[in-house]
Amino acid sequence: MCGIVGYVGPKPVIDVLMPGLARLEYRGYDSAGVALNHGGSLTVLKQAGRIADLQGLVDREGPAEAHTGIGHTRWATHGAPNTGNAHPHMDCRRDVVVVHNGIIENWVDLKAKLVENGHDFDSDTDTEVVAHLIEEMADLPLADAVRKVMNQADGALALVVMRKSEPDVLVGARRGSPLVVGRGKGENFLASDIPAFLEHTRHMVIVEDDRVVEIRPDEIVLTDLEGNSMPLDERMVEWDFEAAEKGGFDTFMLKEIFEQPHAIADTLAGRIESPGRVVLDELTIDSEILREVDKVFVVACGTSYHAAMMAKYAIERWARLPVEIDIASEFRYRDPVLDHRSLVIGISQSGETIDTLAAVRYARAQGSVVIGVSNVVESALARESDAVLYTRAGPEIGVAATKTFTTQLVAMQLLGLYLAQVRGALDPGAIELQVKELLRLPDQVEAVLARADDVKELTSAWVDTRDWFFLGRSGDFPVAMEGALKLKEIAYVRAEGYAAGEMKHGPIALIEPGVVVVGVATDSHVQAKTLSNMEEMKARGGTIVLVAEEGDDVGHVADHVIRVPSGPDLLCTVTAVVPLQLLAYYVATARGMDVDKPRNLAKTVTVE
Ligand code: F6R
Repeated sequence: MCGIVGYVGPKPVIDVLMPGLARLEYRGYDSAGVALNHGGSLTVLKQAGRIADLQGLVDREGPAEAHTGIGHTRWATHGAPNTGNAHPHMDCRRDVVVVHNGIIENWVDLKAKLVENGHDFDSDTDTEVVAHLIEEMADLPLADAVRKVMNQADGALALVVMRKSEPDVLVGARRGSPLVVGRGKGENFLASDIPAFLEHTRHMVIVEDDRVVEIRPDEIVLTDLEGNSMPLDERMVEWDFEAAEKGGFDTFMLKEIFEQPHAIADTLAGRIESPGRVVLDELTIDSEILREVDKVFVVACGTSYHAAMMAKYAIERWARLPVEIDIASEFRYRDPVLDHRSLVIGISQSGETIDTLAAVRYARAQGSVVIGVSNVVESALARESDAVLYTRAGPEIGVAATKTFTTQLVAMQLLGLYLAQVRGALDPGAIELQVKELLRLPDQVEAVLARADDVKELTSAWVDTRDWFFLGRSGDFPVAMEGALKLKEIAYVRAEGYAAGEMKHGPIALIEPGVVVVGVATDSHVQAKTLSNMEEMKARGGTIVLVAEEGDDVGHVADHVIRVPSGPDLLCTVTAVVPLQLLAYYVATARGMDVDKPRNLAKTVTVE
């Protein structure tokens, strides 16, 4: 997600902010900006593109004498990645500047009220509402105003705010998105990530959720949202730069696996309305057109194709529409029967995969309606679709998809329920039940991650295992496919993903002692059948590992059981895939592989 750095102290602020932003570059961004307070006047400089472009602007126009300031790298979630939407954002009177990381879920309502009160907005971002809300509280000290904003804003967010009239203070606030204070001598820092200030200090102060922090050159004041003062939890950072970039994890992939609860919560944010309606305002396709649709096609590649597999179950089950799924590179060549009543969904985390783009272009040329599902705002897929549904996983640096996959699963479930809602295919009570379960997913994934060490321990016996099968039925089938893909791509061992019931039609000939067979058995309506397929593997000498829900009686079939929290059938795809990501990760790292950059693979595949 976005990167934040702020500074108060004796140094020329620009000499702190620009290197700090450069330290956050690895996370990915589409624009950057700084706001500088020099003796009570504010300069805001921002630019779409690279930090180097911003540096050019700062060299030309930046005041040298400023000692308080904030900087930001933006990774678009609301509004196109252009200079206007780049942070910092200001109020109408150009008195308040704000940078933000996260999503303000109720920003549309807040903005509507502010516009009614006469505020003019410069950007399409959710962030700008914060500056205008604080403008309305001009008589309050900045920290009090920020506390009030935090009490009005819903969602996960980290803010840093500066006011022209308070030139030696920065105010930060946190709920859900990261924010830390760096304590220096006669200077202090605020940042989303430790690398932004690590060259200046190793002392950091933790900012917990729903806390507001004021920093001055010689003072750090931490309060809760009522203004009660809170003790400072200060720690020494032992990490070097490389470890700090990875948040203390050994690799980006592991960091991203552990970011999944947050990424899922962000993907759900603002898309569910109480008591249980799906709200996808960004799907600007007329409901009448969606009601007219008579067939759905989902096209994608690799991991995204596994999300497409799950989407088929979700859309057919909930919206009662027939769904075909295609590996995008195959789609055009089979001459699919498409027309204006066909809805084509292209899934691509990068939004740049050429096979998926070609499939979507082909569909549009046949007059079909296209929805893109992407993690990158304004990606080619987003631009070339009639409407786009963004996953909000934040930038993914590891080549193997992890958090972008689980957020795709969540996005496709939202879309399936939304289509059911628009078409009246499922009664509102049933939709309500499903969305309530969706909202539990971040905590459930957290619970799975809390047992990561158990998965690690389990895998230690299989470091040299060369042959693996991953089996499942129904919603567990795409999970099995994804488990196999993760293992092959990062551990370089043979791993086959199969529909459990299909094994007896040939592949079972490969099962013998030494082969590890991972069965995913969370889908209750096919679980008994999956278990009997696993018995068949066991009878031929395979080592049986089962991924099953808490409390399910599966121990008699398995040599090892990995438990996930129980939940409705299709929703368990999200929790069940997490231990398989971990399994692949631990096998690969034990084999000494570079999991962040597996051989022969690229993060974005722009050739056919
Ligand atoms: C696997 C992986 C790839 C991608 C595939 C499609 O871990 O990352 O299989 O899923 O190349 O990429 P996107 O989703 O960007 O279209």
